Amino acid sequence: MKRIITFGTFDVLHVGHIRILQRARLLGNHLTVGISTDALNWSKKQKKTVYSQFDRLEIVKAVAGVDEVFFEHSLEEKGEYIKQHAADVLVMGDDWAGKFDEFKSLCEVVYLPRTEGISTTQLLAEIRAIAS
Ligand code: CTP
Repeated sequence: MKRIITFGTFDVLHVGHIRILQRARLLGNHLTVGISTDALNWSKKQKKTVYSQFDRLEIVKAVAGVDEVFFEHSLEEKGEYIKQHAADVLVMGDDWAGKFDEFKSLCEVVYLPRTEGISTTQLLAEIRAIAS
């Protein structure tokens, strides 16, 4: 059993999210996803999400290939989450390239290329433009 873990906000789910989850799952046979809480998004990025943490968790849980979800309450606890979920591989998008290398002592760390041309921020800007 090879266990994969990844983290993210996953607000307003889009194809870039689906693809990274699918590609992460292909690296092993069990995928756990840490969903950043509303409080974490606000304290670290001053970002308010469209969907609540509960809805984001439920939506990601419904994606084919996702085996387990949990709330990521703190960025500082990533190492603990990796240990708690017995992850063999930490997967992050390459927007984070190099930033999680400290966890190489706990598990393999893989940065996957992001899907070009889409992000939640960009989608929200497009929705605002259409609606105005
Ligand atoms: N991701 C991806 N391709 C994209 C957008 C996101 O592979 N086009 C990946 C990120 O690298 C991350 C995960 O999806 O590993 C969750 O990213 P998140 O920050 O929630 O999504 P974004 O669309 O980047 O959101 P935002 O615009 O708010 O930063």
